[in-house]
Amino acid sequence: MKRIIKGIAVIMMLGMATPVPKVFASEGVEVNHLGVSNTLVRITGDGKYLLLPVQESSDDEKINILVDGKIEKTINVRLAKSKVDYFVPLDLSPYNGQEVVLNIITTQSRSTVREAKNDVCWKNMSLSDTFDTSNREKYRPAYHHTPLYGWMNDPNGMFYKDGVWHLYYQLNPYGSKWQNLSWGHSTSKDLVNWDVHPVALEPNGLGMVFSGSSALDPGNTAGYGNNAVLGLYTSADASQTQSLVWSNDNGETFEFYPANPVITLESEARDPNMFWDAENNRWVLLLAHALDHEMLIFTSPDMKEWTLESAFGKGIGAQDGVWECPDLFRLPVDGTGEEKWVLICNLNPGGPFGGSATQYFVGDFDGKTFVADTDADGNIPTKWMDFGKDHYATVSWSNAPDNRRTVIGWMSNWQYAAEVPTMQFRSANTLPREVGLFKGPDGRIYLSSTPSPELVALRGKTTLNVKKANIGSKARIFNLPADNGGVCEITFDIDARKSKTVDIELINPSGEKVVMQYDVNAHTLSLDRRNSGIVDFSQDFPAVTVAPTFENDRKISLRIYVDKSSVEVFGDEGRFVMTNLVFPNEPYNKLSISSQGGNTTVENLKIYSIK
Ligand code: FRU
Repeated sequence: MKRIIKGIAVIMMLGMATPVPKVFASEGVEVNHLGVSNTLVRITGDGKYLLLPVQESSDDEKINILVDGKIEKTINVRLAKSKVDYFVPLDLSPYNGQEVVLNIITTQSRSTVREAKNDVCWKNMSLSDTFDTSNREKYRPAYHHTPLYGWMNDPNGMFYKDGVWHLYYQLNPYGSKWQNLSWGHSTSKDLVNWDVHPVALEPNGLGMVFSGSSALDPGNTAGYGNNAVLGLYTSADASQTQSLVWSNDNGETFEFYPANPVITLESEARDPNMFWDAENNRWVLLLAHALDHEMLIFTSPDMKEWTLESAFGKGIGAQDGVWECPDLFRLPVDGTGEEKWVLICNLNPGGPFGGSATQYFVGDFDGKTFVADTDADGNIPTKWMDFGKDHYATVSWSNAPDNRRTVIGWMSNWQYAAEVPTMQFRSANTLPREVGLFKGPDGRIYLSSTPSPELVALRGKTTLNVKKANIGSKARIFNLPADNGGVCEITFDIDARKSKTVDIELINPSGEKVVMQYDVNAHTLSLDRRNSGIVDFSQDFPAVTVAPTFENDRKISLRIYVDKSSVEVFGDEGRFVMTNLVFPNEPYNKLSISSQGGNTTVENLKIYSIK
């Protein structure tokens, strides 16, 4: 009794401060508001996941996850203020039987605790044993790789081992905007069907997990075992440093090299991409010296001690924006018996149609220095790998079988990636592609990209098969498959020797269309998506992209992949490629072809539904 009276006296002296009452948001979730910008959430019940309510227009709130009083990790989540857009799961299963407390520091502008208490996130946090990943969003691709939920950008660390293609990617597991960068992990045996694995790498004290690469270590150079998977990625916080990780369970989980970082510089450098140089018995690493528009080349005997050998790029090629995500590999030049090296350089912005894009250089590499081929005039030409707006951060698989050089890119553009009309997930990857080199009609060597051979397995019914059609100015209309949301593959050969332009359109009943035009005299194929559907979420989205067709006989063959929100056009066995996103209000259900300035012959027109 005495003690209680004393307590009241103290409270009165402090000016009516009262102990903060505990509020039960939902069963097993106790919320304790500490002030305008700080709330504690204590887990008192059972459940595999704590479901966190997200509102995309909210600001990021910093959540320190304390397990038995120690910081386990820190994540940033756009906790819902006035409405819940979707939920993201925080997996509590690793902390079974331990005390879990979320210390949430909010940055929302709040003047009173009462106001902060009204945020809808508090009463919508709940425990659950399941999290529904069956995403039924309209624009979720039917056959492109996407994360189950959350944000994705660059593909990372891809390697092939024992019949399995491993694909990691920049992932935010706690929202559909760029944040909390981790390496998501998927695997495939056929490059068509993908299994999702637990997140492989999460942010740590050195920062977020930015892009990087991995490779097998057959000679045990790093000391983690024969054929250990070695990974290198950029730790990104106030600065960017390079971290080494290794895995002895085929890339399922990684250990962090305790003496990281292995490379530090005084300026921004990221996206290490390494390979084993068998001729010189050492590792070679390319690192994007982002703001300096150059790729640094290092070598190492063991992945830990690195020597800077050279730098490539100052003043060469497209120089706008930042240089990112390099790759370097050797390829035969089709039909010549010659071999050349290709240096991939992603840059953002500065792409040919605005925003991000992938340029490449063809040249020679002596184990230390890359020298790009020059034209007859002594200049190094700028070359683009894809002529659409949505192809970025493309890099290749390490250790791919049969001397294949298989690549995959992020199918979006930094200009609007965070604004595209999807919610539970953001972004897909391009179809996997095989790259090669060919000599163009101008004598220069170019990179080709064809759909990986495994992708023919996607073909379902042949819904149209036209051997030959003579097409004039009146459009011929063909039906696209109605099932599976209209997704399909279309292939045909065009002989336009008597024509000036050929229009190829994908049209839906609302009149929305994707208009491709083969300009025979200009030797170009363009794609206009200005009226393709929803385009107004960004002023940079409506666009016309143009590819050179690299032919001089006025004939092209096209292979077009249509998914729910993308159109990928491969021309002449990948000599030109165009990847573009589209968001039609309803699926395209007609293909229209017409020819101006004379008739065009279309042969072997086939449309396949997708399984
Ligand atoms: C390229 C990039 C990389 C970086 C990563 C961060 O899209 O900016 O340079 O490592 O994304 O998510």
